[in-house]
Amino acid sequence: MNIVKKLTGLPDEEARLLANTGGLPGDIADRMIENVVGGITFPMGIAVNFKVNGKDYLVPMALEEPSVVAAASNAAKMARAKGGFNVTNTGPLMIGQVQVVDVKDPQGAKSKLLGRKAEILKKANDQDPMLVSLGGGAKELNVKVLATIKGPMVVPELIVNTGDAMGANAVNTMAEAVAPMVEEITGGRVFLRIISNLADRRLVKATAVFDKEAVGGEAAVDGVVYAYAFADADPYRCATHNKGIMNGVIAVAIACGQDIRALEAGAHSYAARSGKYKPLTTWEKDANGDLVGRLEMPMAVGLVGGAAKTHPAARAAIKILGVKTATELAEVMAAVGLAQNFAALRALATEGIQRGHMKLHARNIAVSAGAEGKMVDLVASKMVEEKKIRFDRAKELVEELSKS
Ligand code: MEV
Repeated sequence: MNIVKKLTGLPDEEARLLANTGGLPGDIADRMIENVVGGITFPMGIAVNFKVNGKDYLVPMALEEPSVVAAASNAAKMARAKGGFNVTNTGPLMIGQVQVVDVKDPQGAKSKLLGRKAEILKKANDQDPMLVSLGGGAKELNVKVLATIKGPMVVPELIVNTGDAMGANAVNTMAEAVAPMVEEITGGRVFLRIISNLADRRLVKATAVFDKEAVGGEAAVDGVVYAYAFADADPYRCATHNKGIMNGVIAVAIACGQDIRALEAGAHSYAARSGKYKPLTTWEKDANGDLVGRLEMPMAVGLVGGAAKTHPAARAAIKILGVKTATELAEVMAAVGLAQNFAALRALATEGIQRGHMKLHARNIAVSAGAEGKMVDLVASKMVEEKKIRFDRAKELVEELSKS
């Protein structure tokens, strides 16, 4: 930090703020990444009212955006009336890819690889006896022949049950271990050996029914269905629709120390799997006139390894959530994603999101304009009343109130 201070002229006070790593002791931070100078903390809130597969959860969510925790809690309350969220999963199967180039007979190489499947899987499983003893490990071998701009490539894929781990380490180790055997079998050259974040064998499927009265009547139900149809037809809307889902998923993921880049990559590549970018949820009106939402997406999360284990605040969040397996965590996250999407679409299709959003946003602006203590709410309510939620107005109000 001293070097950074010297190089950038960062004032002492700001350096001290940065050095405060919140719930993460400095020595642990130092072991997690390189060149550590401090930490940055997001607020963690608890979303309430979640019932998932019949069990109640307090859901920790960490993010910077106002309204999200309140919206999730409110949506979960509405879902409770009809039993909450039902979520199923496909099990924790991840894919490890090996890229082979310069193969003279790609189809022949594919057959040879498949012919030696047992040997290849054994080599992979020898890398992780612990995972295998727990029922996980490399279970299947697929082989693809790809036509690429650099000619044909043969791509053997290990399908690995990663149990309670997100699995990147286990899968990458296995992919690297089988590479020499793959070269020998195919006669080609191996370059990449890496997990795929398009985790389409590790899916969660969440469903919830929202009572039409709770949603706000028939027009509100129709509004949500029309909102879905808009996202289904247009990638510009769909990106924002899916962003709303990820508001929920990623906030829980951050709180619980998950690899959020992997989750985002998985979600959006899955959304585009048909060649057209599509919503991760669907919404329809049932025979009762109630609103039925479904979410289907990859959810590669883990409880062993990574920040979920090393970050003390993440460990505490997982304790609050009370999940015992990675799959249970994935299921709760799916429920939160569906709840968040419902809340956003309902608000957008009815009063719009700005009213609720701006009230909270106004408080942030008041604080950044220098308001403290009781003044924060005074400045914020005045701006909302005047419909002038702007930094310059907040500054004026802070000055006025400071004088009086
Ligand atoms: C804002 O963070 C998320 C929304 O834009 C999602 C949506 O438009 O569906 C409200």
